Order: sequence, then C-alpha cells, then structure tokens
Amino acid sequence: NATSNVTIDPLKLVAQELKFLNKNIRQLLGSGHPVLATVAKYYTQSEGKHVRPLLVLLMARATAFAAKQPRYESQSLSRSSIDTPISSPTVLYDNNPDQASVSEPTSPLTSTSNETYAFPDDASILPSQRRLAEITELIHTASLLHDDVIDHSTTRRSAPSANTTFGNKMAVLAGDFMLGRASVALARLRDPEVVELLATVIANLVEGEFMQLKNTASDESNPKWNEQAITYYLQKTYLKSASLISKSCRAAAILGQCAPSVVEAAYQYGKNLGLAFQLVDDMLDYTISAGELGKPAGADLELGLATAPLLFAWKDRPELGLLVGRKFAKEGDVQRARELVLQSDGLKQTRALAQEYADKAISSISFFPPGEAKDGLEEMCVKVMKRRK
Ligand code: FPP
Ligand code: MG
Ligand code: MG
Repeated sequence: NATSNVTIDPLKLVAQELKFLNKNIRQLLGSGHPVLATVAKYYTQSEGKHVRPLLVLLMARATAFAAKQPRYESQSLSRSSIDTPISSPTVLYDNNPDQASVSEPTSPLTSTSNETYAFPDDASILPSQRRLAEITELIHTASLLHDDVIDHSTTRRSAPSANTTFGNKMAVLAGDFMLGRASVALARLRDPEVVELLATVIANLVEGEFMQLKNTASDESNPKWNEQAITYYLQKTYLKSASLISKSCRAAAILGQCAPSVVEAAYQYGKNLGLAFQLVDDMLDYTISAGELGKPAGADLELGLATAPLLFAWKDRPELGLLVGRKFAKEGDVQRARELVLQSDGLKQTRALAQEYADKAISSISFFPPGEAKDGLEEMCVKVMKRRK
C-alpha cells in the first residue's frame, strides 16, 4: 500500500491497456470528412496525462475481486455490440452530384470498416470497462476543445491549441462531434444506468462552466461571505472536474457488477480525488510556468477568475474584494492580486484542503481487497499532490 516502501507506478499497472487507448479513440473519431477527422483527432496526437482512463482501468482492476451483486439477468454483453467499429462513409463528400444527393448516410452503427477493436488480454478488465475508459477521455477532450475557445487559450499539451490551429468554429464543432461519438460508444455498452451517469457528466461540465462564467457576486456584508464563496467554488469544482472522475469510477464498478457498497466507494474515491486534482490545478496556475505546464500559466486571474488560493487569501486581505468585483480588469489588477495571493497563505491552505480530499479518497477504498490495483489507486492520490503539470 501507499505507506510501504515499494512504490507502485499506477501507469505501469495498466500500461498495456493505455497503449491501445489512443488507437481505439482515434478509431472512434474517424469521419468521412477528412478535415473534421483531423480536428477531432488533433488533441490525441500530443501526450495527454490520461488521468481519467487510467483511473477507470485501475478501478476496474481494483474491484474485480470485490463483492459482487449482479444487477440484470443477462448482463453478459456480446463483445460485438461494443466493438463494431464506428465510422461514416465518404460518399457524402464526393464531388459526384448523384452521390451527393444521397441524403441519408450509412448509419454509423452499420460500419463498413474492417478495423477491429484492439486490446491486450487482461481478464480483470472487461471490454465494457475498457471502452468506458475511452469514453471518459473523449468527453474530457471534447470539453477541452470548448474550454480553449471560451478561455481564448493559445496552447494545450505543449502545442498550439485547436482553436489557434483551426479556428473557433471548427474547434467547437469537433468537440460536439466527439460528444456524439462518445454517446454512440456509450449507448453500445447497453447499460442504461451507465448511460445516465455519463450523460449527467456532460450536463455537469456545462453547469460547472456556467457557474464559473456567471460568478455570483460575494456579499461581504454577510459574516459568512468567505465560506459561501468557497462553497460556491467547491460546487463549481465538483461539476467542472470531479463529476467526470467520480461518475466514471462509479460506472466502472457498475459495469463490473459490483455490490452497492463498492459502487458507492468507487464514487467517493473519484469525487474526492477529483476535487483534490482541481484544487492542485488551481494552485499550479499560480506556481508553475507556462513552459512546464504546456498551457498558459496565471490564466485564471487573466480570465477574471477567483480560485481557491485567492478565496483563502481574500479573508486576510480585504482589498482583494475590489479587484474580484471588477474581475481584475483594470490595468495592474492581475499583478496586484497575484502579489497579494503569493504573500498570503492562500496556496498553503489550498494544498491543505487538497490533501484532505486526497486522504478521504484513500480511506473510501480502504476496504477493497488488497492488491496492486488498489495500491495504484492510492498512489494516484499521492501523485496528484506531487504533480507539477
Ligand atoms: C478546463 O478547465 C475545462 C474543464 C475542466 C471543463 C470545461 C467544460 C466546458 C467548456 C463545457 C462544455 C463541455 C463539453 C462536454 C463540451 P480550465 O480552463 O480551468 O483548465 P485549463 O487550464 O486546462 O484550460
Ligand atoms: Mg482553460
Ligand atoms: Mg476554463
């Protein structure tokens, strides 16, 4: 376990699986329109961290021998319903006017492709759980495509962002396309509860982003204003980041036919780890350079956003209220706010809160059967706290 001297590398535990992940994801993003396929696959070229699929795969393995409670009579999914390749025909885009008049393309469910769904033989991970891992990465990447448009980001994963390379219109549409393909793959898991979970995640992502966009002004005359601001921030953080991680961990356990207590523990693990993950993310925005992050640094203040480090600092430095109120829009505001945050113990408090969540994540799975995958999940909590990108 995490306290022993043997360090488990969570990445190595599912390295074989991850090797196939990108290939399968790229296959899900095939399109008869070559430009659309290129834009949709753009963020799969650079190395992402694959945190979400990694967690799903580890959760699948960690719960493989936990208590089970089969939900449906015949849950035995035929592999073919999952892995029939999804790809659209090219006829619609030919210059041939006769073919162009064919208004209904072959259903993406009846594929003409010969490509097959590839993965290594690890009996402790079900094909449906593996596909779930791919779906989480698709939804995450779709949200990044949209996020970079909203945030006017010029870089992502140490390369020009998709909106910079292809423009806003194509970046938004590629994100929508990804959500569509993720939905098809999700439907093919033939599990309504899992469909509901992941569909809720998509709605949650938008809700979180909206909460961030339309921050309710903090009423400083209320004695509890600071706690309220932090509560609002944490709710937003759950929706924007922890929802995907927690609900996909839950879905992994559901697909594994786990008992309700195991399903709930998987969810609690993901929720707490997700909150810790985003708190650390908001800390890194203050402390790490753009070069190391592979995306813009100090971006939150520039975007007018008050995240945890500032909310904690604000309590001791009331002058921050004025800057927050005008979204750091006046010349010198960003610089001043940054100084005040760095002088305060806002970063320290943020780290302490993240650590609390990471510890809660570890304790929520304490009753899982011992094994490498459980160690890997615990190690992920350690890694989240140590990460620099
Ligand atoms: C990154 O946050 C963005 C998210 C975690 C979610 C963004 C969600 C949307 C744009 C809503 C639309 C959702 C879908 C599914 C299409 P960040 O900007 O704080 O982090 P960054 O520094 O990585 O850009
Ligand atoms: Mg962003
Ligand atoms: Mg954003």
